[in-house]
Amino acid sequence: EKRTKILDILQSGEVGSSALVKGWIRTKRQNKNVAFIALNDGSTLNNLQLVADPNEIEESLLRRCTTGASIAARGELVASQGSGQKVELIVKSLEILGEADPEKYPLQPKKHSMEFLREIAHLRPRTNTFGAVFRVRHAMIYAVHKFFNDKGFYNIHTPIITASDAEGAGETFKVTTLDLNNVPKTEEGKVDHEQDFFERETNLTVSGQLEGELAAMALGNIYTFGPTFRAENSNTTRHLAEFWMIEPEMAFYDLDDNADLAEEMLQYLVQYALDNCADDLKFLHDREVEENKNKKEADRPDMYLMDRLKFVVDNAFERVTYTEAIDILRNSKPNKKKKFNYLIEGWGADLQSEHERYLVEKHFKKPVILTDYPKDIKAFYMRQNDDDKTVAAMDILFPGIGEIVGGAQREERMDKLTTRMEEMGIPSEELWWYLDTRRFGSAPHSGFGLGFERMILFVTGMTNIRDVIPFPRTPGNAEF
Ligand code: 4AD
Ligand code: MG
Repeated sequence: EKRTKILDILQSGEVGSSALVKGWIRTKRQNKNVAFIALNDGSTLNNLQLVADPNEIEESLLRRCTTGASIAARGELVASQGSGQKVELIVKSLEILGEADPEKYPLQPKKHSMEFLREIAHLRPRTNTFGAVFRVRHAMIYAVHKFFNDKGFYNIHTPIITASDAEGAGETFKVTTLDLNNVPKTEEGKVDHEQDFFERETNLTVSGQLEGELAAMALGNIYTFGPTFRAENSNTTRHLAEFWMIEPEMAFYDLDDNADLAEEMLQYLVQYALDNCADDLKFLHDREVEENKNKKEADRPDMYLMDRLKFVVDNAFERVTYTEAIDILRNSKPNKKKKFNYLIEGWGADLQSEHERYLVEKHFKKPVILTDYPKDIKAFYMRQNDDDKTVAAMDILFPGIGEIVGGAQREERMDKLTTRMEEMGIPSEELWWYLDTRRFGSAPHSGFGLGFERMILFVTGMTNIRDVIPFPRTPGNAEF
């Protein structure tokens, strides 16, 4: 006999039919005449209520039915009186699969802080919140592939171990098989990388873009969806050392085409969640309302989760240049006490996330696509504009998040590209293969990167990026 998933029972279980369910106990309430067990198996946020008669089910079994224990229960579905569900299960037989000592099990049925749950990342998927987040995350993975597949894009796997630093930011994790306590040295006394596994220095990829560009220059429209790694020592709620990135790259697209695609994709992903994750999103929305209930009006969000999601699908994104944005920020008074200090430096400074969020949340009140950034704060591969000062870059800014997408039209002109690389100290000999696409059949092309966890932050309303990936990697954290 196969187990039936609780999702299926709650959606279409028929009164009078029998069922075998397996799962983890969330709570148990018991008196002389009856025991109620709330069972969850991860297939849905909702628990199935099991009803057991202590006179029929052995007392020693019921005693071991504690929060966190895993059980199998066989019984009959009946119409539910009060559990908030259509059906519940009258237990005929019960088996304990795995006990959970109530003295030791860390996840007791009470409210735990996010900080505490991060310390038990191996158990936190058993909470309502993390169950919801990881189901939504799964749906988003599928939606990404569906979006691009429906458009005829090819999914390309790019290497995880590389010899290049695509963003040129020098924040790579080194990959080596050399014995750190006994590294081979060259005659000049330097580390002899020729004796390493790949006979050269290698690192984990920070982006699949460069290889994605090669693929686009042959297959037309491609996308990557893989893990990326950055050793930036930023302990923020928006940065991970290991995160997943979606990087489409399109031959013959200019910056406008690029922005159109990114906007369509972001709206599609949010709509997909609204259509397919209704229960989990409602739970996450209610949770957010509850968390803010006791805050002062001024500290509460302008909008709650569901409204933010609808706001993104209902509003065309605002498109403005960096130069226009700087003017707006300079002339704005975010509040009486504080000024955007760095703006004193003026044109050319990079935007901080508080400036990005001001533009989105307070000024335009819709998602913003910022274009044409100063070339000195952007990567070497971005296409240079005629003004000699800016590049055809675009960042997409979201409420509550700031930058969610970064992209650009790529520099397809060989001379411009190599000159820029020289200026920025990027060794062109090592990127000879990248430059070959400009040597042979070069063509205008564009692409962007969506930080998957930032997208999940937005869609779930979670506030810390450590809480939207099962096992977050941040400075000092690689336990599980
Ligand atoms: O802006 P970034 O660095 O752009 C690139 O890597 C390009 N190669 C993308 C491309 O054009 N193909 O990163 C892209 C996105 C950011 O907008 C952000 O959403 C996310 O990746 N991101 C991070 N997410 C989590 N943790 C980090 N440390 C991140 N760094 C960037
Ligand atoms: Mg960026």
